[in-house]
Amino acid sequence: MLKDTTKIKAALIGFGRMGKMYGEAMAQSNRWEIAYVCDPSPSSRAEAQKMFPNTRTITDENIIFNDDSIRAVALCALADSRKEQIEKAVRTHKHIIAEKPVADTIEHEWEVVDLVKDSGVFATVNLYLRNSWYHQTMKQFIEEGEIGELAIIRICHMTPGLAPGEGHEYEGPAFHDCGMHYVDIARWYAGSEYKTWHAQGLRMWSYKDPWWLQCHGTFENGIVYDITQGFVYGQLSQQQTHNSYTDIIGTKGIVRMTHDFKTAVVDLHGVNRTLRIEKPFGGKNLDKLCALMAESILSGQRDPRMPRMRDSAIASQHAWDFLDDARAHDLPAIGNLETLEEIRERRRHMTNGYGLLRHNKE
Ligand SMILES: NC(=O)c1ccc[n+]([C@@H]2O[C@H](COP(=O)([O-])OP(=O)(O)OC[C@H]3O[C@@H](n4cnc5c(N)ncnc54)[C@H](O)[C@@H]3O)[C@@H](O)[C@H]2O)c1
Repeated sequence: MLKDTTKIKAALIGFGRMGKMYGEAMAQSNRWEIAYVCDPSPSSRAEAQKMFPNTRTITDENIIFNDDSIRAVALCALADSRKEQIEKAVRTHKHIIAEKPVADTIEHEWEVVDLVKDSGVFATVNLYLRNSWYHQTMKQFIEEGEIGELAIIRICHMTPGLAPGEGHEYEGPAFHDCGMHYVDIARWYAGSEYKTWHAQGLRMWSYKDPWWLQCHGTFENGIVYDITQGFVYGQLSQQQTHNSYTDIIGTKGIVRMTHDFKTAVVDLHGVNRTLRIEKPFGGKNLDKLCALMAESILSGQRDPRMPRMRDSAIASQHAWDFLDDARAHDLPAIGNLETLEEIRERRRHMTNGYGLLRHNKE
């Protein structure tokens, strides 16, 4: 059989930390041709031009939407520009891979869900955990009945990552910006909608918003969950570390995973099988998301494994609900803004660290 070398012409809008990762993933695949990179920042465009000499770097996104040869756009700027870009993509019939959240307010996110519904374009969002080998392995094991009935989902993700005021302001506090991934993946495991929640937050360094939050509650089907997320994990420690795990308990067995951002380790303790699997972490799995989109475009059939805008809006909605719930209870403040300033100063000079944004490095 002849090798199919059909390429899809695409454009990247936003070439920061994520845009660069999309560029790398697409460049490594034989399915994509990156025709344009659009970014208002001269240094981002210069970097894109260096990485992809055959790509046109531009500041006016309308050039992309007016070009009929472009079939897909990856929207990886910040959330404030996303809805307008999605509107333009739908109007000009371009398939969409969007970063999360899909807009800057929950009202706009639900409008986006309506916009793409029945539009004829394939629209997906980078809820990257769904494309990870470790969550897929654990879900498969659960579906095989190895842990009995799924009962308890416990997720924790704490890193010395993005500090308040460093960027991602449109994306909300840490529990929304990052936490919505965990809100989504718990719902994906449960296969059910959130029913109840009770959240406890903490305003670390006396910042106005909680930067650490823990929420527990139930799904409609009775499964219970607890989710802990915080970018508060030792930003000023001499040697930084993090703590990230998923721990799932059934009526008969358990599955769990942890990672160090390089290697992920999955422990499967089922009734018939006991396995420990260690494999490369896989980062944001953009190779997988881009491959699912490419195959959908080429076949004309949407791959059901691509997360939907609706999934993202639901996760975003509940992440806000949990933050609102935390504000409705005692919400203590510990520490002071001087410590936060020390953290920002340290992060400004870090070249390798947790969740550094482009401008932190520049
Ligand atoms: N799915 C994930 O796991 C994940 C992880 C990190 C970030 N994100 C999301 O990706 C988005 C980008 O985050 P980042 O970390 O790459 O941020 P970043 O600050 O590193 O990059 C943003 C880039 O967008 C550019 N930009 C701003 N407005 C633009 C516009 N209107 N048109 C074109 N470009 C524009 C900026 O100049 C910058 O180069 C955020 O919305 C964030 O929530 C998702």
